[in-house]
Amino acid sequence: MGSTFSCCGSHKEDEVVSVVTPGNSTWRMFTYKELHSATNGFSDDNKLGEGGFGSVYWGKASDGLQIAVKKLKSMTSKAEMEFAVEVEVLGRVRHKNLLGLRGYCVGTDQRLIVYDYMPNLSLLSRLHGQCAGEVQLDWRKRMKIAIGSAEGISYLHHEVTPHIIHRDIKASNVLLDSDYEPLVADFGFAKLIPEGVSHMTTRVKGTLGYLAPEYAMWGKVSDGCDVYSFGILLLELLTGRKPIEKLPGGVKRTITEWAEPLIAKERFKDLVDPRLRGSFDENQLKKAISVACLCVQSEPEKRPSMKEVVYMLKGYGSEGKALQTRMNSIKYKDELLALDQTSDDDDDGGPDESYGVFGAMESEMQDPYNRYAKGNNAKHG
Ligand SMILES: Nc1ncnc2c1ncn2[C@@H]1O[C@H](COP(=O)(O)OP(=O)(O)OP(=O)(O)O)[C@@H](O)[C@H]1O
Ligand SMILES: [Mg+2]
Repeated sequence: MGSTFSCCGSHKEDEVVSVVTPGNSTWRMFTYKELHSATNGFSDDNKLGEGGFGSVYWGKASDGLQIAVKKLKSMTSKAEMEFAVEVEVLGRVRHKNLLGLRGYCVGTDQRLIVYDYMPNLSLLSRLHGQCAGEVQLDWRKRMKIAIGSAEGISYLHHEVTPHIIHRDIKASNVLLDSDYEPLVADFGFAKLIPEGVSHMTTRVKGTLGYLAPEYAMWGKVSDGCDVYSFGILLLELLTGRKPIEKLPGGVKRTITEWAEPLIAKERFKDLVDPRLRGSFDENQLKKAISVACLCVQSEPEKRPSMKEVVYMLKGYGSEGKALQTRMNSIKYKDELLALDQTSDDDDDGGPDESYGVFGAMESEMQDPYNRYAKGNNAKHG
């Protein structure tokens, strides 16, 4: 896939101007001119994909490094805020499973972020996109992706101060390096959580299908929201199915609705991605499904922490314990499903992979418990 973007040879290296930030060798400022040149003038041929923030282009920097350049679509205050959050968060984190910042560019009317180019693109493209038919993600790679992305999220939740909730864990935000090591990307929606705060109420952003119910309905954001999204991602990785599927009659079904009866009957082999052609470790599969069941529980307090998820996925701590084979699947309200674009594509995923952007929706939904607490105590008292 990545090899198709070989058009960069035409750019003029002598036009490239770069400024190395003193005291920081890991990222630097880029000039617009350099990025323009590196991406062949942001040409469509270099385009890797498009998301809520803007388009992402493949390029080659003046030092020969392959880069991915995210170009802000419009200069609204909201987009500027996302840019600022992303740069701020990226500057704070360093972990083998988080896509770090290579640099950025701030012009009068442009905002661009530069990352290392990930030659195996995203998990989305490997599972459902145009690369899905190429090299298969075998079982070993899938487990590596599950454990690595869990480690990246666990670092955000437990090791950075203040703690960070990602809020947009999904297959297109898990990128894969040349060795299929996963790198969690896109911190534009992230929330920095002050010490001692367990949850906050915010406007809902993210991608339907991955959204925890308490967050989709009432905007309650806690690290449990990322745990829920990770559970969906894990199911997607194991089963090869999309978080929301459109059935022939037009009805939309979530992956948990599909998986729930199979898990209850312990029909694990019917759950696993048929593209694996039966080549998987049954014990690992059972454990991973059990972890996914724990992660997607509707009560956030019952979900494990990401630290525990990593531990369990690595096979520790489950000796002699019964597997979790209950999944309470959630069904989003029809109004929400109508807004979803994730399942409207053809099965090949489409060229831009930008499925499921739900960021435009900002809801101010009322928490019914609060409503009762304020005005309707008599009913419960
Ligand atoms: N560093 C990178 N290396 C390779 N491909 C990348 C890189 N960053 C992004 N991409 C590709 O560009 C696509 C678009 O990314 P982008 O983050 O803009 O959108 P998205 O993840 O689909 O949606 P959202 O805006 O909700 O995050 C990704 O799906 C991915 O395939
Ligand atoms: Mg993304």
